Amino acid sequence: MTEAETPVWLRQLKRAIRGNRRDAHNRYVQFATLGLDGKPRVRMVVFRGFSRSEASFFIITDARSEKVKELAQCPDVEVSWYFTQTREQFRLQCSAVTHNHGTDADLHRDALWKGLSDAAKAQFFWPEPGLPSGEGQSLEITTHPPESFVVIECSPQRVDHLVLAKIQRRTLSDLTASGWTEVSINP
Ligand SMILES: Cc1cc2nc3c(=O)[nH]c(=O)nc-3n(C[C@H](O)[C@H](O)[C@H](O)COP(=O)(O)O)c2cc1C
Repeated sequence: MTEAETPVWLRQLKRAIRGNRRDAHNRYVQFATLGLDGKPRVRMVVFRGFSRSEASFFIITDARSEKVKELAQCPDVEVSWYFTQTREQFRLQCSAVTHNHGTDADLHRDALWKGLSDAAKAQFFWPEPGLPSGEGQSLEITTHPPESFVVIECSPQRVDHLVLAKIQRRTLSDLTASGWTEVSINP
């Protein structure tokens, strides 16, 4: 994607990531799914970077977690991201694809796995998340990414960008058949 082809929201999001890099938490985002009971679920996850085309971005998680079961039922998610230095919020409505072991996205899995600290890797060998403490089986420790390690690839379809300045600004961007469109809306 050339600079001119880059959607406005993506340029602004990348600028916000750069402008807030001194905050340790600038890569923590809220990740909302639809629960199996039809009720909303939200939790914090770490943004792990954009795909090469920048049409999507990655999150990593445990294949045994609730969110992976939820995504199998409903791939629509919303990611909410607040940057404290520049005081702006991005809400990204996305469709999500889960890349498990043995899928054509093994390259992403391998690259993201290699970038993890030993402590972060260790969590993927722990007993099944969500079971009562002390229950569940630890997984055999391997050097390659275990089956529990999955990459969630999120492709934004709609982005709501709110800037908290003296005069607040809010822009809605939608992905249409002919590309991204933007409309300025009342905050
Ligand atoms: C700062 C922070 C970062 C986190 N990052 C991740 C992450 O990148 N991936 C992940 O699966 N869970 C992450 N978690 C844990 C999740 O918030 C959540 O507790 C866990 O994934 C289980 O969620 P689930 O049962 O809804 O699937 C993080 C939690 C915190 C507080």
